[in-house]
Amino acid sequence: MTAGRLLGNLGLTLVLLTSALIGVYAFLFQAGVAGSPEFHARFETRYVFASMHVLGSGVALLLGGMQFLTRLRTRVPALHRRLGQLYLLMILVGGIGGLGLAPVAHGGLVARVGFASLALLWLVSAGRAWFAIRAGDVVLHRHWMLRNFAMTFAAVTLRLHLGLLQLAGFSFDEAYPLVAWLAWVPNLLLVEWWLGWRGHRDTLRAST
Ligand code: HEM
Repeated sequence: MTAGRLLGNLGLTLVLLTSALIGVYAFLFQAGVAGSPEFHARFETRYVFASMHVLGSGVALLLGGMQFLTRLRTRVPALHRRLGQLYLLMILVGGIGGLGLAPVAHGGLVARVGFASLALLWLVSAGRAWFAIRAGDVVLHRHWMLRNFAMTFAAVTLRLHLGLLQLAGFSFDEAYPLVAWLAWVPNLLLVEWWLGWRGHRDTLRAST
């Protein structure tokens, strides 16, 4: 196994484990056994959007990483297709819920615009991935799915950044508006950089 592939496998394992952890947290939150009382009180005022968001996004987070497992995709393509359809449906449900929650999110205007932008881009990228595969364009589908999952994974990176900022001395109230952007903008930039690098490498290979 090459160093690059080993690194890739380690990265995907980490993504799957952290996604499972936060995905399970979403269900515990919905069951009322986890999460802060302040969040629960606010979510009660938008119960339908909140439930759509927490349950839909939770399932999407549990499914999303698995779709990048090459073995699953190549050995059981029908399962990849079914899980992919469920993933996109859950994003539709979770994204609409996220849009409904954004106007009341903690952290004022900066956090609210950050979450609303994320919700919109999450829905748009899911739509682009779906249209690409319906048109039979597998490469474009993969690119949009990568962008989309970079945003699904914001549920993990948000909590990571929140913890790190608080360790660095920021209060929760100071950190929250920042993580509404930090949770997803660097993830997306990383994916764009990776797609650009791969495209450049493939062009070089084709010309030699
Ligand atoms: C990617 C698009 C996403 C958007 C736009 C989004 C948006 C939001 C918003 C606006 C809130 C309310 C924040 C507040 O009231 O201050 C929230 C909370 C929450 N979201 Fe998301 N979210 C996304 C992804 C996810 C995913 C993938 C999960 C799966 C675990 C998730 C699980 C939760 C949970 C459990 C809460 C409750 C607050 C907490 O305890 O942290 N979200 N989200």
